[in-house]
Amino acid sequence: MGKAVSTLTLQKYKEDGRKIVCLTAYDYSTAKILDRAGVDVILVGDSLAMVALGHKTTHAVTVEEMLHHTKAVTRGAEFALVVADLPFMSYQVDITQAITNAGRFVKEAQAQAVKLEGASEHNIQIIERLVSMGIPVMGHLGFTPQSIHGLGGTRVQARNADDALKLLAEAKALEKAGVFAVVLEMVPTAVARAIAKRLTIPVIGIGAGVDCDGQILVTDDLLGKYVDFKPRFVRRYASLDEVCTEAIRSYAQDVMSSAFPTDTESFAFPEEEEKQLLKKLDAEPTKQFSNSP
Ligand code: KIV
Repeated sequence: MGKAVSTLTLQKYKEDGRKIVCLTAYDYSTAKILDRAGVDVILVGDSLAMVALGHKTTHAVTVEEMLHHTKAVTRGAEFALVVADLPFMSYQVDITQAITNAGRFVKEAQAQAVKLEGASEHNIQIIERLVSMGIPVMGHLGFTPQSIHGLGGTRVQARNADDALKLLAEAKALEKAGVFAVVLEMVPTAVARAIAKRLTIPVIGIGAGVDCDGQILVTDDLLGKYVDFKPRFVRRYASLDEVCTEAIRSYAQDVMSSAFPTDTESFAFPEEEEKQLLKKLDAEPTKQFSNSP
């Protein structure tokens, strides 16, 4: 394995035309697998609200829950850059709230960067302040799940030239404010291509076509473990839902038929000790169990 990935590494990858590999993780063992497989960026996405906690949208996850999961991920990631998503309403209220919460992800959970959605004037101010404090920020544009209700549902964004120009302006504003990379979600390939070409920082696509500087997916989607729905842009590389269900069924059968555990999966007690134990138990007066005091 090489050196740990930093924001500078990602910048160099863009300049060299080396695609950036990003995935989500919410726990230690998944982070270890991703890290071992050579993933560059591990995002502790607020998608964990849906994928790990079973909510219908990303809104419900709290700062405390995100911190809890980010701590687990940073324990498992040795090389990958760990980015923590700032959850809904953890940065929208005011700048002090945003800085305090972002700082907790770096200080308490050891994340190396934070991500926030959108390019409002408020967000630009937050980004500038965080970057000036040495906290790297990743942007997120296009379909931004925290604004799902405002956007009228899960929809492809920037579907005409004017909206594409607006999106480019937002991406440039984020770049100027100092983000080290920007996620573009559910944007037509040609629009993402035009934006990636015009930004100096890496553009990471999810449902944004092949011409981005890197790609990100939700790991549980890629592994076929989260199957509540499958967005068009997800490619499943495994069917863990089926593999796991089959494995659990086999376990249940083995438990019910006493095929599990075998002697090699249990701990032996010396024969002589067992004899002694049974003798001593036989010699004990039989205990009476009763409910009366
Ligand atoms: O929360 C998340 O997992 C994300 C990625 C899908 C980009 O924001």
